[in-house]
Amino acid sequence: MIKGKIVVGILPTYNLKNDDNDPYQDKASFVRMYEQMVVDSGAIPIGILNSDVKQYFDICDAYIWPGGRCIKKEFYKIFDDAIKNHKPFLGVCLGMQAMTTFLNIVEDRLSNKKLSINATYEANKDIKPYLFRLEENRINNHDHYVTKEIQTIESSKHRIKIKKGTIMERIYNEKEIRVPSLHTYVVARIPDSLVVSAKADDDIVEAVEYTRDGACMLGVQYHPELIKDHKIFDWLVEESYNKYKILINKEHSIPNDLKYKIIAYDSKCPSIDKRESLMEEAVYYAFLELKKAMKKKGYVIELQSGYRYTVDQEDLYNKVAEEKETEHANMYVAKPRHSEHETGLAIDICACIHGKWNFDSAEELNELYKYLHSIISDYGFILRYPKGKESITGYGYEPWHLRYVGSKKLAKYIMDNNLALEEVVNK
Ligand code: DAL
Ligand code: ZN
Repeated sequence: MIKGKIVVGILPTYNLKNDDNDPYQDKASFVRMYEQMVVDSGAIPIGILNSDVKQYFDICDAYIWPGGRCIKKEFYKIFDDAIKNHKPFLGVCLGMQAMTTFLNIVEDRLSNKKLSINATYEANKDIKPYLFRLEENRINNHDHYVTKEIQTIESSKHRIKIKKGTIMERIYNEKEIRVPSLHTYVVARIPDSLVVSAKADDDIVEAVEYTRDGACMLGVQYHPELIKDHKIFDWLVEESYNKYKILINKEHSIPNDLKYKIIAYDSKCPSIDKRESLMEEAVYYAFLELKKAMKKKGYVIELQSGYRYTVDQEDLYNKVAEEKETEHANMYVAKPRHSEHETGLAIDICACIHGKWNFDSAEELNELYKYLHSIISDYGFILRYPKGKESITGYGYEPWHLRYVGSKKLAKYIMDNNLALEEVVNK
């Protein structure tokens, strides 16, 4: 993430060397079409320049392995990050072949753990070919566009059929689509870990998916960037927000391995406990934007409570239970390890009207809340405890408690349909 925006790392496109004596043969390029598609989907594209890809792990939320002529094995390491950290991956053409080859090697390696990934590839590439050269005279001319001199993109298209219940079906919501092709190799062997989610009429594999253990990787043999097929890039960016779609409530406690970056914020709210003037990094940037938008309408909002340490959540629960009834505490305060505030994704808002920060009744803030709730989804926030959803959320109406979910699309869907997060997440 950079200032709350998703960052998509794009691998370079390598061509084959023609002349070893030419030092300038060692070059890679970046295809501007991928960059533009990422921008159109609302994310920041960055080029992964160096093959020491680990350096990019902290910056990238998602990856694209584009087409090209040559798979550089050094880049296989990005699959470690994508799989372990559930970062979405999109492989296009050669990128899909790289994804399939890598997972084939992993599978082969399981039978001989002593070998490295490289040695496994060398030992198996002839006996278990991972890729085939495309034969001539296929029903669909998959390499149409490159081999014929004057071809339009339209004439390079062929039909692919999409399998039910796959990511591909969710992206396109169609049984079949027409896609442009441009390749010389095809996937020869499908590892057990992959699902084939689309095929051409001549049986060539056109899309594969890897979703084990929460991973989210898609490879397509065709070229979505060539026809400005935004759906697939929108999917990539949307999936990058998954880490913010976590459900914390009375039943679901804070996972032990939760790792959000919490940063300090200088709240001007007079009643804030400075220990709670903290937020998750993306929430911080979203809140600044929200605050600015409220100010434009003449409303001053501030942070009343952000990230809370578990000990502070415990103190708060005990204090409210002591001062009021336990029943009241259970209705408005989460027990330790069960509050969204302990993630940094929740913020309580306070407001200043005509110089006054404290109000005798919540009604005085009604107008402000009404406007606030009408715009929060534009910044990736939802109202976490809506009126009338008490039996689902387990808490009373809290107009001040906003929860960051990252995806504006999801936030808008929740707010427009007056839903509780419980009704959307897990489905
Ligand atoms: N007020 C909400 C439920 C919390 O304590 O997290
Ligand atoms: Zn709250």
